[in-house]
Formats: sequence, structure tokens, C-alpha cells
Amino acid sequence: MTDLVVFPSERPLTGSVPVPGDKSIAHRAILLSGLAEGQSRIEGGALGADNMSTLAALRAMGITTEEQNETLLVEGKGLYGLRAPSAPIDCGNSGTTMRLLAGVLAAQRFATVLVGDESLTRRPMERVARPLRLRGARIEGKLDPKRVGEITAPLQIGPLPEPNVLGPLEYEMPVASAQVKSAILLSGLYADGPTYVREPLVSRDHTERLLLALGVPLSSVGAIIQLDGPSFSGKLPPFSITVPGDPSSASFLVVAAQLIPQSRVTVRRVGLNPTRTGLFEVLRDMGGSLVLEPKGEEMGEPIGDLHAGAADLRQGRLGGELVARTIDEVPILCALAARAHGTTLIEDAAELRVKESDRIAMMARVLRAFGVTCEERPDGLAVEGKPEGKLKAADIESGGDHRIAMASCVLGLLADGPTRVRDADNIATSFPRFVGTMRALGARIEVESSGGTP
Ligand code: S3P
Repeated sequence: MTDLVVFPSERPLTGSVPVPGDKSIAHRAILLSGLAEGQSRIEGGALGADNMSTLAALRAMGITTEEQNETLLVEGKGLYGLRAPSAPIDCGNSGTTMRLLAGVLAAQRFATVLVGDESLTRRPMERVARPLRLRGARIEGKLDPKRVGEITAPLQIGPLPEPNVLGPLEYEMPVASAQVKSAILLSGLYADGPTYVREPLVSRDHTERLLLALGVPLSSVGAIIQLDGPSFSGKLPPFSITVPGDPSSASFLVVAAQLIPQSRVTVRRVGLNPTRTGLFEVLRDMGGSLVLEPKGEEMGEPIGDLHAGAADLRQGRLGGELVARTIDEVPILCALAARAHGTTLIEDAAELRVKESDRIAMMARVLRAFGVTCEERPDGLAVEGKPEGKLKAADIESGGDHRIAMASCVLGLLADGPTRVRDADNIATSFPRFVGTMRALGARIEVESSGGTP
């Protein structure tokens, strides 16, 4: 296991850096490239372990892939080209791998078992199983003794029962979730009728944008999406994509720049899909310093450079529709709140309790360890900012959650002594070069092996 030791910053963060390709877009691009007919090319820029779980799943089902530096070549075999894997498919720590795959595997004539690590095995899966069953799929999990009506991994999926084709679906999702929405839409590629999904709030729409770019007859109005199964040709063309930089990874750098006096940081070629930029909106409301410089589009996804600098922040507020567009950024928003004047409220965010860790409880613990006062609530947090002086150096148990570990590192730069962030290997799931990137900007972070299981 790896610990990171973060030293208080003695100078501004400066420089221009890239971030890895967007994890969400890369999952979808990898999966769809395996279902396309012919060779696709995915330029990812240091993709993390989660994306590699999706790639490994395709390999386990007979898809040939090649990695050349930061480019993936995938030989897609068409929608019906996957073959039965010889063992359970390990989705690692990746909820997106498990839930998106479920949508595709639900339509196959062979059976599969999806497993994951300890954190993924705790996460709720009935939300994806239910709509797939409603259209005829066979999908079961382990009954969750703690949550009535809930199932968890391992998931047993398929084989598709008679009449061997998924039916149409009209489904109102109880929780906004891009993973569930995407599983439903992917299963719709195999259905003999249309798919209608309605979300309570608009979640990230990368699947919709990519399917549209590949010519799939799909339309959406706000949170209602329709995929017209029968008029779809049944073929996806191969494609070439340079995955935009991940705005969720960029957020750690953008926030660090706000908090360290005189910093000026540019993050290049970041995805600016409005379903992902909630944190940047909150940051603007807090008086943050951020300029977005548009740089065009890639397969329907807007891209731009982010120019961030130090700022004097006032309290912010996150709630309502903005939550779905900021869902992965709440840990780093807490760091921002910790240094703002006044109390920042984070509400309507109970979903955070079923992410890679219970991120509400974890961030409350992290903030308190740094000497920041906060109140943990069922659906969020109230964080009392401490804009003056240093934070207290802390010893943080990250719980194997990449975003908790990275947010803790940013807070550590503001402390009165070295901060230890334990169990930080998981950062590699989304941002393998995090430490190198922070160092390139001028931060001092040391990597220490703490023994235990690697
Ligand atoms: C993701 C959707 C979100 C997000 C996750 C990635 C995706 O999860 O938290 O990191 O790529 O679709 P939910 O769909 O569970 O909200």
C-alpha cells in the first residue's frame, strides 16, 4: 500500500498541464469500439485502472485490443460479436464498468458473472437490474442483508431467455444516474422496440452524444431520452476519438490553484460538457478565478483550456439540479469550502453515500482532521470555512477512495506541517499521474510504501 506525504506549499502553483482522458467518455468509447464493426482508435492520455477494467472485460469476451503508448486500438466484432468469457469478469473498483456492461450483457445469449473489489461489491445494483429485467433480461445479484430490495455484486446476467430478444422499454428512473441510463440505452441497441428513459434530473450525457455521433437514432429533450430500436441498422461504425481531458481530474488542480496564493494554472484540453461542469459554476458563485477558453469539439463533446488562479472565496451552495452535474466533485468542493468565508451548504447529495466510499461521512472526517468545523447531514454537509491561517496537519485514512485521497492532498498543501494520506494507490483508478502533475505545478508530495497488501 502507498501513502502520500504532502508538504505545506511554500510557493504558488504554476504551469500548464494535461489531465488523463475523461474516465466516463473513455468507458463508453472502449465499450462501443468493441461493439462496432472494424478497428477503432482511442487516444486516451494515461487512462486509469477503471478504464482498463472495461478494456479487460472486452478482451475476456474475445475482442482483440492493442495498446501503443497512449493509444488503444480495438478490433470491434459487431453488436453480436462478443463470446462467452471463460471466467467471471472482474470490474475492479469500477461501478461504470459493471453497470454499463450489464446493459450489453443483458442482451447476450450466453451467461456472464460480474464481480468487483470490496468497495464495488457493496454498491447498489438493483437500480440497473430492474429496468433490464423489465425488458426481458435475466439478471440477479446477491441479496443485500442491510437494504431491503437491494442487490449487490456478483451479478449473474443472461443468457437471454426466449424469444431471444429484449423488448421495448418505457422507464422512469427513481434516481438520476448516468450509469443506469447508459445501461438502459445500450440494451436498447439490441431491442425489438423503442427505449424511453426519463431521469429525475439531467445526468452526464456522454452515452447519448457518442451514440448520436455513431449514427444511432436517438433524441433527447432535457431528462427524457428516446432511442428508436427498430430503425437502427444494427451496425455501429468504427471510429477514432481523442478523449477530452477529464474535468473531474482537472477539478483538483483548479481548486488547488484557487487556494494557494499567487497560483496560476492552466489545464489543457478539458471536456466541458455542461453535464459535468457544475463545480465550475459553484466556483464562479464563490468568487473563484477560472476562465474557460473554448478549443472546439470531439465527437460531440465540447473542449477547452481552463485557466485558474488564486482567489478570495465566499461561501457556496450546492443543491437541486446542480448536484447531478457536480456529483464526483463534492470531495474537492469540500476543500474549497474549507477555505471560503462563511458556511458552504451541500444538500440533496445522498447519492454520495453509495459511491466508492460514503463520501459524506469520509469528507466530514477529513475536514475535521484538518481542523475545519463541519456538520454531517443525511444528504450533505455544512462546512464552516477557515480562510485565515493554516489548517492543522492531518493523518488521513482515505478508505481506498481516489477522490477522497486527492482532495486530502489538496488540503494538505494548506496545513501547518506534513500531512499523511494513507492507502492512496486507488488514485490510479482515475488519475495515475496525479502526484507527477502536482509536482510539475510546484507541490511537494512524497510517495512512501506503508507495507500491507499492495
Ligand atoms: C458515471 C456516472 C456517475 C459518476 C461516476 C461515473 C458515468 O455515477 O459518479 O463516477 O460514467 O456514467 P452514477 O451514474 O452512479 O451517478
